[in-house]
Amino acid sequence: QSDDRLVGKKILVTAGGTQEDIDPVRFIGNHSSGKMGIAIANAAAQAGASVTLIAGQVKNLATLDSRILVTRVTSTNDMAQAVKHDFTDVDALVMAAAVADFQPITRADQKIKKNPDSDELTLRLRKTPDILKQVGQIKRHQFVVGFAAETQNLLQNANKKLIQKNADIIVANNVSNPGVGFGSDDNQVTILTRNHEPEKWPKMSKQLVAKKIIDLISDQIL
Ligand code: C5P
Repeated sequence: QSDDRLVGKKILVTAGGTQEDIDPVRFIGNHSSGKMGIAIANAAAQAGASVTLIAGQVKNLATLDSRILVTRVTSTNDMAQAVKHDFTDVDALVMAAAVADFQPITRADQKIKKNPDSDELTLRLRKTPDILKQVGQIKRHQFVVGFAAETQNLLQNANKKLIQKNADIIVANNVSNPGVGFGSDDNQVTILTRNHEPEKWPKMSKQLVAKKIIDLISDQIL
């Protein structure tokens, strides 16, 4: 169901994984389905916001509300450019994308051939630009929500991200818990904010998590 709480507000959402080319036929990617980001974009549109979704590799764009404007990107660099292009103008950014943390230092122009004399291939990688951190440094009125997918020390690592990336909220989930996280329909998250104790939400559908995140954002930007 729809309401008009966020009419006149602009919300930018990223979803899915980024891909980093190794050569013309190969890339480094990840298992993100984009479901969480798509659910957030849909919840924002259903609350009346003008929503742009910057989508990397996503599995179910068909479920996207038709009012949402979509920008497709492939690499982290493309996503960084698209986010920075739109960021100045928005009321809130939700970085739900599973951004690659490393990219090949060089992209080979031709397909890399197997070397008959060696069973090994070494790829040299460097860190990708940290989009969330970069926008955290330039943000003014914008309310910024990041995600943290962790397999250990959930709260400690997520809290580090809240501070280091200058985010307003970090949505932390333990991706090693069965039945939640990458690709699944449910999620179990803990919400970290600057002035309150972490809030552990029970396991629920990604749609409901999205709706509750949009409620939190509405409380801050209205
Ligand atoms: O550092 P980590 O990848 O765990 O941080 C996760 C959060 O940071 C997510 O919101 C993700 O979208 C964002 N991120 C980013 N740019 C990167 C890596 C992560 O914006 N290069």
